[in-house]
Amino acid sequence: MNGKLTILGLESSCDDTAAAILTREGARSRARILSSVVSGQAALHAPFGGVVPEIAARAHAEKLDGCVRRALTEADVTLDAVDAVAVTAGPGLIGGVLSGVMCAKAIAAARGLPLIGVNHLAGHALTPRLTDGLAYPYLILLVSGGHCQFLLVRGAQAFTRLGGTIDDAPGEAFDKVARLLALPQPGGPAVEAEAGTGDPARFALPRPLLDRPGCDMSFSGLKTAVLRARDGVMQDNSLRAGDRADLCAGFQAAVCDVLVEKTRRALDLYLAEAPATPALAVAGGVAANQAIRGGLADLCAARGVEFVAPPLKLCTDNAAMIAYAGMELFDAGQRDGMDLAARPRWPLDGAAPGMLGSGKKGAKA
Ligand code: KG4
Ligand code: ZN
Repeated sequence: MNGKLTILGLESSCDDTAAAILTREGARSRARILSSVVSGQAALHAPFGGVVPEIAARAHAEKLDGCVRRALTEADVTLDAVDAVAVTAGPGLIGGVLSGVMCAKAIAAARGLPLIGVNHLAGHALTPRLTDGLAYPYLILLVSGGHCQFLLVRGAQAFTRLGGTIDDAPGEAFDKVARLLALPQPGGPAVEAEAGTGDPARFALPRPLLDRPGCDMSFSGLKTAVLRARDGVMQDNSLRAGDRADLCAGFQAAVCDVLVEKTRRALDLYLAEAPATPALAVAGGVAANQAIRGGLADLCAARGVEFVAPPLKLCTDNAAMIAYAGMELFDAGQRDGMDLAARPRWPLDGAAPGMLGSGKKGAKA
């Protein structure tokens, strides 16, 4: 083989069912996304105010075949063109992960193709190589509804975790604050829109863990502080529009301050290793927030570090990132057997101490 490679990727670890086809012409050429199909389940879970694992698992099992078919059609290829199948094997909601792993095993067995189990977080962490060709080592901040951690990415199988949340992920905090303020879900965009007209300095909200060294973060106390501040200004059980905007602005400013300061510390650790082409990447739904993105971009500019924020559809859950990670793992010689296990927890950095968080989405490995 001259290194030409086409990979089918599958993702089903939370509430998005996804399939993608990635190809590259030779070992030295950049990977191209031929198709990336994402089928969300938001409407199924909306009545319950959060992702219901059993409903998610069943929906994945029902949708996977169709997503694979659509990915092949949109890429204008058949399974004959596929050289390997990459699938998220964890961490995540176990029923969903199992659905994807079973589907991938069936395709691999029926077509005699190599099977590659991918860590979902590695998929996020390697995305800046797919989108921007970033060289190792780089620093990445994963910030979504289920993840929050700094990873020093040294290779497709070499990650050092510099810190992360000890409780809620920032997206989870945005969602909970939106609920407290009677704003729609997902909370992030709604809170950001309100914050735009609010006064961030009116309410004195905490900046959790900034008084402690290191890169760990905490967001659940901040949400409780918003609840108290809200109760202090509510009249007859209702909130004035101006109060709501000020609460949103104060909350967003606090999250932003914490993320920027902790990123400064993570950058210090990373830059101490004198990387040849220093870069910070950000991934996850919260990376859509302009205030947070702007704060990180300013920090990078001041430190002479390249700032990379992949397009949002590749920052949030998708299968192109799984296919891409599968491609790097294929090159590294990884081949999994029919005994590939689905793992609810799977830390990328096995040497790092476990986090305390009790992630609602179960993905905070
Ligand atoms: O990565 P993602 O789509 O899904 C997972 O969590 O896996 O992230 C979704 C999260 C939600 O919590 C949502 O409220 C948050 O990202 N989010 C935002 C914004 N857009 C989405 N948070 C803050 N500001 C935003 N503009
Ligand atoms: Zn994710």
